[in-house]
Amino acid sequence: MLILGFMGSPSVKGKCSRLLQKALDGARAGGAAVKQYDLVSFDIRHCKGCGACFKTRPELAIGPCPLKDDMAAILEEYDRADGYVYASPVYDGYVTSIMKKFLERKIALTYKSPEEQGKVPSPRRPVGFRKKVSYIVTGDAADEYQEIMGDPCFVAMDWHHMLEQVESLDRLYVGSAECISAEEFARREALAFELGGRLVEEIKAVAEADSAS
Ligand SMILES: Cc1cc2nc3c(=O)[nH]c(=O)nc-3n(C[C@H](O)[C@H](O)[C@H](O)COP(=O)(O)O)c2cc1C
Repeated sequence: MLILGFMGSPSVKGKCSRLLQKALDGARAGGAAVKQYDLVSFDIRHCKGCGACFKTRPELAIGPCPLKDDMAAILEEYDRADGYVYASPVYDGYVTSIMKKFLERKIALTYKSPEEQGKVPSPRRPVGFRKKVSYIVTGDAADEYQEIMGDPCFVAMDWHHMLEQVESLDRLYVGSAECISAEEFARREALAFELGGRLVEEIKAVAEADSAS
């Protein structure tokens, strides 16, 4: 089993990254192979809006993109993975532009035929919600502001998963990120570890149900 982590903070050693690492540690402890993508360290360009990736070549698992950057290789590994953890800080009440750029480029995993104008695209490779995803958001606003800080980020990161047929599981918001005590942060790291372990257990349960039927 392969679990990929996607991290949207510009600080690769920041709180968001540390929480994602804990989630991936939890997944590894459950028996998965894991890999963390610090998105800021990759060449991921802005979508140009040409639509080639979701309007052409339906026979491909990943639609063709004229931009020659790291995204094609990331999407190939994405396609092979069984589950994901996405983590982003809140910037201006939303995911960071680093994460958003990545989310937009994932439209290449979907296809919309000319007959489907006005509809949402379909997954190029339907996985029937066997793949799973969980989310982590950090913000300086305290936990009680999750509804206006964390939730818009969870919705942004979750949006494509409905199209990709990936089931979303846990949402962990960690507030007061810039002033949280070491003790409290350790408690949140433990929650992130559990999130990673649960992700693996849920994916295993689906695989076991599939093999029993
Ligand atoms: C440009 C910018 C905008 C931010 N906007 C918000 C915000 O809208 N709400 C919030 O709670 N925190 C906001 N923050 C604080 C970050 O979310 C916080 O520093 C981050 O989650 C810490 O994670 P890191 O250590 O990975 O950077 C902002 C920080 C920056 C630099």
